[in-house]
Amino acid sequence: MRLTLITSNKGKLAEFRSALAPLGLEVLHSDEECDEIQADTLEEVVRSCLAQLKERGLVNMVIDDSGLFVHALGGFPGVYSAYALRTIGMDGVLRLLEGREDRSAHFECCIGASIDGEDIIVHGRCEGTIAKRPSGHEGFGFDPIFVPSGFERTFAEISITEKNGISHRGRAVQAFAEELRGRLNEAHR
Ligand code: IMP
Repeated sequence: MRLTLITSNKGKLAEFRSALAPLGLEVLHSDEECDEIQADTLEEVVRSCLAQLKERGLVNMVIDDSGLFVHALGGFPGVYSAYALRTIGMDGVLRLLEGREDRSAHFECCIGASIDGEDIIVHGRCEGTIAKRPSGHEGFGFDPIFVPSGFERTFAEISITEKNGISHRGRAVQAFAEELRGRLNEAHR
């Protein structure tokens, strides 16, 4: 089966392809855009974007909205992660945490898809801490400052396969694949 991932983020595309290829799913790519609404949750953003893309006639597509939630900052940047990365950057987030004991954070990913006219919405989450300084060159976005729980390396210091095994996106993609498998099995019954 073929699906189109709608994103301008090549890092996300690589992670989707790496996670879904073993399941026999081919991921095509489109950088079609939707207007991102201001909302309190990733799911609201995903549902709005999915609705806009369906209205334009796109089918068998999948989108991903993710964010980094820093606990000592009340969840900031959260749904504003892309804006925060563009403006204050990773260094800005590190500065906001200077002198704070609690460096805990989590990543969240919401995946939305429209498959044969039916919507699928799934979530994934990954706990961790914010490093004192950026390390590593793999991945993208905030990866160099996020250390997943149980690891001593940042997301940017581990391979894409390792990241997918534990990350918010990897977990959401697995939940998505399971949901998809269930629906395809039902359709063939
Ligand atoms: P969006 O989902 O494309 O809106 O991404 C929100 C922001 O979080 C962007 O700046 C991404 O680079 C960042 N981000 C999303 N997922 C990840 C990830 O897996 N690692 C690091 N940064 C991420």
